Amino acid sequence: MVNIAAYLRQNLKTHYIGKRLHYFEVIGSTMDIARDLAEKHAPEGTAVIAGKQNVGRGRLGRSWLSPVGGLATSIVLRPPVKKIRLIPAITSLAVIHALHNMGLKADIKWPNDVLIGGKKVCGILIENGFSEADLRYMVIGIGINVNFDTYAFQEITDIATSLSMETGKDVPVEEVALQLYTELEKLYAKIGEEDAVIREWACHMETLGKRVRVSLGSRTIEGTALDVNGSGNLLLRLDDGSVQGITAGDVTHVRDQKH
Ligand code: BTN
Repeated sequence: MVNIAAYLRQNLKTHYIGKRLHYFEVIGSTMDIARDLAEKHAPEGTAVIAGKQNVGRGRLGRSWLSPVGGLATSIVLRPPVKKIRLIPAITSLAVIHALHNMGLKADIKWPNDVLIGGKKVCGILIENGFSEADLRYMVIGIGINVNFDTYAFQEITDIATSLSMETGKDVPVEEVALQLYTELEKLYAKIGEEDAVIREWACHMETLGKRVRVSLGSRTIEGTALDVNGSGNLLLRLDDGSVQGITAGDVTHVRDQKH
């Protein structure tokens, strides 16, 4: 098996993302290691990779299954506070570009799940380190199901896929990481081009045009996903005709409204 850290040290051509690399064969969660490094002033782009996580974290308090064969990475960024809302778009687009470079077509489910054929192949978790109103750092956690069979894990069998399942062969994890860091650095450089980033994000968003159910914690609403606005909110037309902007929530695609 290729040593991911050695491969990246040798082949990665980015200027800062992934240049400081911390690799662990097994870890609790890469988020905790990256946060500790960020607290100790690790430079922007510092990345943590794990071969396997024992307590991988997902969005909305869920856990993230992170077995051997997956890519689990967390990256320290320090964007201007006004640009935080673009990070889900930038990160999910970086995954879309990375997979595209490897011959795979994927789509986005709002805000930043990456799907192939309607099944989740990548999840993104963003945690912020604030000190009062100042954003000190963000930790961007990206988990990609690369080389494992989701049928082996009953809890995700129906909803998740992996790159090896989609291609019918093992996919080099080290190349997925290289493509991901490269594309993330390119897109992060476009953080000033807000409209272009949001428009490209919307173009790849499978959610738009669909009937969706959104769980907002204590309640669930249904409607048609119309668009995303400049703040990254999902605009939903409810059944009474009103339009509601969703800032955070868990979206389920109910059925396609286009057909
Ligand atoms: C989600 O879809 O719920 C987000 C999943 C994020 C998983 C990644 S794997 C690397 C990083 N470490 C974690 O514990 N979580 C993120």
